[in-house]
Amino acid sequence: MDIEQLRHDTPACARLIHFNNAGAALSPQAVTTSVIEHLQLEQQVGGYEAAARASGQLEQFYHAIAGLLNCNPREIAYAENASRGWNHLLHAIPFEPGDRILTGQSEYASNYLSLLHFARQKQIGIEVIENGDDGRIDLEQLRQRLDSDVRLIALTHVASQSGVVQPAQAVGRLARQHRIFYLLDASQSAGQCPLDVTELQCDMLVGTGRKYLRGPRGTGFLYVRNAIVEYLEPATVELHTVDWRSAHSYRIRDDARRFESWESNVAGKIGLGVAADYAVRTGIPASAERIRQLAAHLRSALRSIPGIQVHEPDTDQLCGLVTFSSEHESAQALHERLQERGINSSVTRRAATLLDFDRRGLNDINRASLHYYNTEEEITAFCGQLER
Ligand SMILES: Cc1ncc(COP(=O)(O)O)c(C=O)c1O
Repeated sequence: MDIEQLRHDTPACARLIHFNNAGAALSPQAVTTSVIEHLQLEQQVGGYEAAARASGQLEQFYHAIAGLLNCNPREIAYAENASRGWNHLLHAIPFEPGDRILTGQSEYASNYLSLLHFARQKQIGIEVIENGDDGRIDLEQLRQRLDSDVRLIALTHVASQSGVVQPAQAVGRLARQHRIFYLLDASQSAGQCPLDVTELQCDMLVGTGRKYLRGPRGTGFLYVRNAIVEYLEPATVELHTVDWRSAHSYRIRDDARRFESWESNVAGKIGLGVAADYAVRTGIPASAERIRQLAAHLRSALRSIPGIQVHEPDTDQLCGLVTFSSEHESAQALHERLQERGINSSVTRRAATLLDFDRRGLNDINRASLHYYNTEEEITAFCGQLER
């Protein structure tokens, strides 16, 4: 990878150390320019007229995300964020009272809360499959819980509170064997891990724009496998998502866009398409490898600092998120002091990850999340600050 060029494409790299890529990564210049240019076009010619002129770029969004996931553009829909996309899909699954949903200990907080809320409304059971000591979902426990009442497996590929990559493909194989719907949250993995929906064998997947994909904030996408889309009836419809035939009839679109809203952040959608193309052009396997190596380097450097504890489980299936804490200072205070010195990181709060942190006996901890444009020199500077 041409790191110098990639950093040059990312102007803020010259001014700060950005280790908060799992929060929101820095966008490449091309992404920011595409968004600004579209907003300027809207200002000059009008919003609808600008969208009409940008129809090619808007269509490219679907091709770009399909290229990222190795699927058909018909299987992609734009979503305002991953959580909304995820909920659209959950509410479209044909559940029956008494059905069960299996999820993981590391499920993203808002997904899990949505499951609780949904289960209460629809008399559905939720079961959490625990992680093993390696932080990965216990596949044997999952296998044992699979029976004809299980309608959905919902898994978060990479959680926001740990660098562990879940065995999404092995879960997909089980789901497919048992003919159970499988919904994968790839919000943290999109852009930093190779994602091939055919290999993953997921029926549905969601992602967000602003994290490792380096897209604009307030953007996301969803994928629905073509073979199941007709079984997923959206909870709501609108003019854009149906063919209105008479006073009493309409037909829902037969592709993933049945989950879209007509009104959306057009400039953001263009920007996310540009970001996905940029990610694919940069090379996801090479990006994944570099991120993995940088994060491994950071973990081992952190382990050598007295008073710093690293919280990643013992597995080689780790990506760019690195969690740690200091004996001497609260997570929040440390985070703020780093920020004062031009280093962005974040705090992962127990309240946002109750299932996982309570089982692991953790309270609020620090998180440094690396992208391929970070460098070994930045890691040295970061650790130097921590030591001081
Ligand atoms: C694993 C995971 N899933 C989902 C989300 C939510 O994404 P969005 O804010 O786009 O809804 C996040 C955000 O932090 C996340 O880390």
